[in-house]
Amino acid sequence: MRILVTGGAGFIGSHLIDRLMAQGHEVVCLDNFYTGHKRNILKWLNHPCFELIRHDITEPIRLEVDQIYHLACPASPVHYQYNPVKTIKTNVMGTLNMLGLAKRVKARFLLASTSEVYGDPEVHPQTEEYRGNVNPIGIRSCYDEGKRVAETLAFDYHRQNEVDIRVARIFNTYGPRMLENDGRVVSNFVVQALQGQPLTVYGDGSQTRSFCFVSDLVEGLMRLMNGDFIGPVNLGNPDEYTILELAQAVQQMVNPSLQIDFKPLPQDDPRRRKPDITRARTHLHWQPTVPLQEGLQLTVEDFRARMIEAAQNGTERAKQEQPISPA
Ligand SMILES: NC(=O)c1ccc[n+]([C@@H]2O[C@H](COP(=O)([O-])OP(=O)(O)OC[C@H]3O[C@@H](n4cnc5c(N)ncnc54)[C@H](O)[C@@H]3O)[C@@H](O)[C@H]2O)c1
Repeated sequence: MRILVTGGAGFIGSHLIDRLMAQGHEVVCLDNFYTGHKRNILKWLNHPCFELIRHDITEPIRLEVDQIYHLACPASPVHYQYNPVKTIKTNVMGTLNMLGLAKRVKARFLLASTSEVYGDPEVHPQTEEYRGNVNPIGIRSCYDEGKRVAETLAFDYHRQNEVDIRVARIFNTYGPRMLENDGRVVSNFVVQALQGQPLTVYGDGSQTRSFCFVSDLVEGLMRLMNGDFIGPVNLGNPDEYTILELAQAVQQMVNPSLQIDFKPLPQDDPRRRKPDITRARTHLHWQPTVPLQEGLQLTVEDFRARMIEAAQNGTERAKQEQPISPA
């Protein structure tokens, strides 16, 4: 098949591309390189079945493809809050453009939505029936509400134009190739630990999160795309950890003598987040398989290797690693 991956140079997108290429598909990667990097897809650049297009999805594009994995959107608060209007445009205009493309070429379309559509949830764990508790005017709304509109668009194109859609609600995912500077909890702890700095915990660390390793997530996305179930479906790891437990796991793995520092909680930070994955189990026969310890170890090794490489290549290379400002 000819498969389009928007946001393919990003964290999840590049792991997805690795799997699709390994299966022998033709892959078109579309990315504006805001948070994505060429190094993530470097090994495919000269492959005859791979095509890279630098393109911003807020602009329409004409392509011939059979499937579209629509992942393009900055996923970490640091990056999506840098230019919130651009984040909304990416979610609304970008998703409209990609759904328009899917309609025109009759491609199956998978939306990478998010657990953030549940906002600060009042029910726990979150099932797909839960309609969420999102602040429409908060600093996270450009992302949360943007993704909610993206889901609405997907379902309206499905009802009105018979576009063949799939909607995944992705929960916290981690693994190799996460950006060092994205401010997310796993990358924060790993970078701080490798630099020998104290680990920063916001609040008292009792807020919970679930952490899904990227290979598990990619498997879930591919099962959703290639099955009959439209969704929305939660894809995440239901094992719940407090932020303090995560900090302690990283501390033990990298350097048990590291300190843990506590700082005030940021605005709109959800207290608890844990997926109910009954639907994914039932309809996709999917559940995560990689335990946190194993996934963290692989992540720490990747970050360590990148930090050594960056140090070897000096400050010039470090400058190039900074994200490009979005248009
Ligand atoms: N990582 C997670 O924990 C998580 C959780 C929930 C949902 N998601 C969703 O999964 C998708 C991928 O997330 P990720 O963690 O790989 O993030 P990422 O930031 O690494 O990847 C996003 C990619 O999209 C590209 N992009 C952003 N805006 C674009 C635009 N306007 N036009 C073209 N390309 C653009 C970026 O350059 C980057 O390569 C996102 O849609 C995100 O909302 C991720």
